[in-house]
Amino acid sequence: MGRRKLRQRQAEEIVKKRQSEHFSLQTLRGMRDIYAHEAEEWVKVRRAVDEMAERFSFNYLETPILENLRLYLRNNKESFSVVNKEMYTFETRGGDEVALRPEITPSIVRAYLEDGMQSWRHPVKLYTFGSIFRYERPQEGRYRQAHQIDFEMIGVESSIAEAQLIQTAFAILRKLGLEDVIVEINSLGCRDCQREYQKQLKRYFSRVKPKLCEDCKRRMQKNPMRVFDCKEEKCQQELAEAPLIMDNLCKACNKHFKEVKEYLDSLAIPYRINVKLVRGLDYYTHTVFEIWKEGDEVSRQNALGGGGRYDHLVEEFGGKFTPAVGFAFGMDRLVAEMMKKKKKRGESPFVFLAQLGDKSRHQALKLFENLWEAGFPVRESFTKTSLRTQLKIAKQEKIRWVLVLGYKETIDESIIIRDQKLGLQQIVSQKELVDFLKKQRKIEEKETKELEKNRQ
Ligand code: HAM
Repeated sequence: MGRRKLRQRQAEEIVKKRQSEHFSLQTLRGMRDIYAHEAEEWVKVRRAVDEMAERFSFNYLETPILENLRLYLRNNKESFSVVNKEMYTFETRGGDEVALRPEITPSIVRAYLEDGMQSWRHPVKLYTFGSIFRYERPQEGRYRQAHQIDFEMIGVESSIAEAQLIQTAFAILRKLGLEDVIVEINSLGCRDCQREYQKQLKRYFSRVKPKLCEDCKRRMQKNPMRVFDCKEEKCQQELAEAPLIMDNLCKACNKHFKEVKEYLDSLAIPYRINVKLVRGLDYYTHTVFEIWKEGDEVSRQNALGGGGRYDHLVEEFGGKFTPAVGFAFGMDRLVAEMMKKKKKRGESPFVFLAQLGDKSRHQALKLFENLWEAGFPVRESFTKTSLRTQLKIAKQEKIRWVLVLGYKETIDESIIIRDQKLGLQQIVSQKELVDFLKKQRKIEEKETKELEKNRQ
């Protein structure tokens, strides 16, 4: 090869390399697609949430993902909450400063004021699903685009609101089969309690300041209570003797918190008081809570959800004094828990419907619908004509019961049932099919329960 040609080829390779470096067809760091098995659980969570929202009379709403930056700033400049330093912000072509929402509560409060919900019967109970964006360091269970299920009750002072919200959260968890969970609760008191307490806390901090990390020193200035959130072992040791808000609540705040606990007792909801729980958002007063998978609260990694009372947010947004309370689940984290459970159970769709020949394909379409109506999750591959391929797919999906509809079965309205686990096969009439499957399902449920018992 001549020297000129060689140089030309080398130049082409450099351009190619640069192009591939600059443009990669991948999701951004901390963001991901939700598909396949995870998507199935995703849909289940949405369904459970919709059902429970209806049971507890929450109205669905949707708010934009992009909001005016000022929604997240206190007095138009200072950061309104700790997540705000992690915000995705930019200036639009029209010169507006906007932000991808780092949480949904401020949008809902804005909507409450903007859309005239003040004139609705109170409390106004709202719920929504949606993406939130936080420029955090991605790790397991922590994403830059995460998804929340958000519930808010606006215009309610009574402590029963906290209990109802936690009851709603637990009803969702129960519906999803996630039962080994616990609520941690604390009271941050009213604004007066907080003011007094913060003075005490600052006095305490001035003594231990040199031993605290830089982050804590910064927090001490802005919101001293957030120092309790620090994960540094050294700081935690210095804070061991710090005064606690719980010991500094006024009579009314004490009464409110006592009532919340009594309601939780009546509901038999497992809770633990965590006197150092302050939450990462500045707007909370009175009750704050977090929901943890039992055991995870020790590492403080990946709470399933959290919330609390924010009695002054409506006022800060320009409305009249309107107490409110809410919480949000992390959808990604609920789904991750469901995936873990599913993996343990080895669960897969109950039946696979295979067909052979044109005529049976017509009947299979209808039968597919009937089986779903009867409550049986069915998989199929109607676009495939080869029985072997269909059986292979059923095997890959680990489905035990395979129904085969051939020409003969279509004519005499019967169906072949193959038990992939035991390698047995039998023919039943299509009329008896649902009863047969129901019986099998009962047997399998019993077997699974016994297996779980033995494992424990
Ligand atoms: P939060 O504690 O910041 O509260 O978020 C609630 C839940 O969202 C967390 O417990 C977690 O499950 C999930 N979550 C948050 N950030 C991420 C992330 N980067 N990756 C995965 N999951 C995440 C709030 O956002 C408040 N607005 C809740 C509230 C509603 N308070 C009153 N009303």
